[in-house]
Amino acid sequence: MTTILFAAGSERWTEYEGPLRNALDALGLEYTLSPETDDPAQVDYIIYAPNPSLTDFTPYTNAKAVLSLWAGVERIVGNETLTMPLARMVNDGMTEGMVEWVVANVLRHHLGLDRYVLNPTREWAPRVPPLARDRKVAVLGLGALGQACAQGLAGLNFDVIGWSRSQKDIAGITCLSGDDGLVQTLSQAEILVLLLPLTADTENLLNAQRLAQMPKGAVVINPGRGPLIDDDALLAALDSGHISHATLDVFRKEPLPADHPYWTHPNVTVTPHIASDSRTDSAAQVIAENIWRGEAGEPLLHLVDRGAGY
Ligand SMILES: NC(=O)c1ccc[n+]([C@@H]2O[C@H](COP(=O)([O-])OP(=O)(O)OC[C@H]3O[C@@H](n4cnc5c(N)ncnc54)[C@H](OP(=O)(O)O)[C@@H]3O)[C@@H](O)[C@H]2O)c1
Repeated sequence: MTTILFAAGSERWTEYEGPLRNALDALGLEYTLSPETDDPAQVDYIIYAPNPSLTDFTPYTNAKAVLSLWAGVERIVGNETLTMPLARMVNDGMTEGMVEWVVANVLRHHLGLDRYVLNPTREWAPRVPPLARDRKVAVLGLGALGQACAQGLAGLNFDVIGWSRSQKDIAGITCLSGDDGLVQTLSQAEILVLLLPLTADTENLLNAQRLAQMPKGAVVINPGRGPLIDDDALLAALDSGHISHATLDVFRKEPLPADHPYWTHPNVTVTPHIASDSRTDSAAQVIAENIWRGEAGEPLLHLVDRGAGY
């Protein structure tokens, strides 16, 4: 009997209990699944999302893995009490959702749709946009989400450059890496999409110097994590017109405080961390597969590299 603790908050328990039981049953696992335990030493797997009720993993002496419902693990990866393997969330539903959100926001800016959607003076002012083939879009981060977004954009004929820590080779995408690769990427990025994880190396990556390397009038789209951007530097670049618009889904502090200048800046769009949530059915299947793998002695999927921080 495998003992599974759901430590991801009571709201999510209501959402996830059914899909998890369906997915675990479909794999023929014998298990107990509960949002609480009297005996942490009996727990084999912990399904986790950041929540104040579990910050100390020390009592879970026999846990074989912590399985995150979130793709971003920056709030747990440095937890010193977590000595067991940590797997992050990658699932088809989340990936598809992110591709849709990124493509929609790139197309909004590429086609200049605001000009017609927000047209208070009813001005008849046609403007022909370039074709996607003539628009350079850069994606920072070519992991599960960044790669899918880059491919989705390339599928629409955008001229896509992607940047990652290790060098990649992806059909239809110009792949770059390293410091020189970043300068090359930014200097061409008419539209920049941030899909990096938050680590010590990526915090404030988009600072004043790097914003200045981007073409005048470029657009920043951030569905990654808020601290990837130096907010003061971005606001200054928006005020000067060097950056023409920022569409931001993630922030240093969430919910974004009511008095934050992003809310009122005319060239900022705020979305409330909705770019792509885990879809319960496909997320539950990934969790169940990892538990099945753990029990079968197979390597777990999507293990976090604790040293790299993602
Ligand atoms: N807004 C939302 O709703 C939402 C939803 C889901 C996820 N997210 C965010 O999206 C992030 C990305 O998710 P993912 O699943 O695509 O992550 P992932 O598969 O871990 O991919 C991360 C990518 O970033 C690259 N990278 C990491 N550190 C780097 C560095 N220092 N320099 C250059 N490249 C670096 C990695 O390079 P390598 O390929 O060389 O390792 C990899 O390509 C998550 O961490 C999360 O913060 C947001």
